[in-house]
Amino acid sequence: MPELLPMLPRDTRGRPLRDLRISVTDRCNFRCVYCMPRAVFGPDHAFLPRAELLTFGEIARMVAIFTRLGVEKVRLTGGEPLVRREIPTLVSLLAGIRGVQDLTLTTNGVLLPEHASALREAGLHRVTVSLDADDDATFRRMNDAGVPVSRVLAGIEAAEAAGLGPIKLNMVVKRGWNEHAVLPMARRFRGTGRILRFIEYMDVGHSNGWRLDEVTSADEILATISAEFPLEPMAPTNPGEVAERYRYADGAGEIGIIASVSRPFCGDCNRARLSADGQLYTCLFATSGHDLRTLLRGGASDGDLEATLRGIWEARDDRYSEIRSAETATLPKVEMSYIGG
Ligand code: GTP
Ligand code: 5AD
Ligand code: SF4
Ligand code: SF4
Repeated sequence: MPELLPMLPRDTRGRPLRDLRISVTDRCNFRCVYCMPRAVFGPDHAFLPRAELLTFGEIARMVAIFTRLGVEKVRLTGGEPLVRREIPTLVSLLAGIRGVQDLTLTTNGVLLPEHASALREAGLHRVTVSLDADDDATFRRMNDAGVPVSRVLAGIEAAEAAGLGPIKLNMVVKRGWNEHAVLPMARRFRGTGRILRFIEYMDVGHSNGWRLDEVTSADEILATISAEFPLEPMAPTNPGEVAERYRYADGAGEIGIIASVSRPFCGDCNRARLSADGQLYTCLFATSGHDLRTLLRGGASDGDLEATLRGIWEARDDRYSEIRSAETATLPKVEMSYIGG
C-alpha cells in the first residue's frame, strides 16, 4: 500500500506554506538607518542572551518538521547571519534535510570574504547581498557603521568566486537618503549577471520612524531607470514571489522591484518566519508570535510540533500590506533585525 500523505495545510485565505525564513541572530555589524537606527540600537541595547537562541540542532529539527508541511525554500537571515559563529555547521545540517530545495542566506556582505567558501562547501545554494548605494559617501550614511562600499563589493566577488551566484542584490530606497543612487546602481550592475532588486522602504518594526513621504515608489524607481534604459516586464518565476521582474530591452539582464507599500503582494504570501529565540511569526509585520522554543525544550514530540505548526498556519489571516494605514504604521511590530527580512 502506498503511504497516505496528509494534506498540506492552507491558511484561511487558501495560501500554502512554502518559504521559511530563519533569523539566526538579532545582532548586526551595521546600523542601517531604516532598520537599526543608532539612536535606538545603541551600546545599551539588550540583544537576546545566548541561552535564548535556538541551537543549530533545534533549528534543524524544526526545519525537518516544516518540510512535512510544505516548506521547500529556507532562507537564513538576521540581523546579520554571519555574525553568529559556525553558520556553515548550520548550513550543512539544513542542506541534508530532504525537502529543502532552495537554501539561501541574506547578508550585508562584509563577512563573505571570510566565509563564502565554507558556506558553499556546507551546501548553501546562493546568497542575497544588501547594498543601498555604490558610492562610498551614500553607502556609509546608510549603514552608519563606517563600512566602506569596497568591503561589500569584495564580499560579492568572494561569493561569486565560491560558486554562490547568481547573486541577488537588495537596495532599499529611502527618499532623501539614497534615491539618487538608483540610476548609478542600475548602470553598475546591468550586464554583470547580478540581479539588482529595488525595495520600497517599509514600516517594518516600530523604531525606524517610517513616514509615507520617505517612500520612493516602485513607479518612480521604474521611471528613473527606464528613462535611460528601457525595461520590459517579465513573467514571475514562482507564485508568491515578492519581486516583480523586468528585463532591460537591450538584453543586459534583469532587475526586480519589491513594492510592498504601493503594490502589496499578500494575496499569495507563503512565508513564515522563525526568530532566533524560536518564536514563529506568520507575517513580517506581526506584533506577536507563537512560542515554539518552550514546546521544543518542554519535550514535545515531532508529531506534537507538526500538529501545532499546522494549527498555526491553518488559523493564519495576515495581509498587513493590504491594510496598511497611518494607524497600523505605529503598532508595536517586531523589528526587522529580530525577525529577519
Ligand atoms: P529569492 O527567492 O531569492 O528571490 O528570494 P526572495 O524573493 O524571498 O528575496 P529576499 O528574501 O531577498 O527578499 C527581499 C526583500 O523583500 C526582503 O528583504 C524584504 O525586504 C522583502 N520581503 C520579503 N518577504 C516579504 C514579505 O513577506 N512581506 C513584505 N512586505 N516584504 C517582504
Ligand atoms: N524597509 C525595506 N527593506 C528593509 N530591509 C530592512 N529594513 C527594511 C525596511 N524598513 C531589508 C534590508 C535587507 C533585507 C534583509 O531587508 O535591506 O536587504
Ligand atoms: Fe543589519 Fe541588514 Fe538591518 Fe542593515 S538591514 S542593520 S545590515 S540587519
Ligand atoms: Fe506576507 Fe505579511 Fe508581507 Fe503580506 S505583509 S506579504 S502577509 S509577510
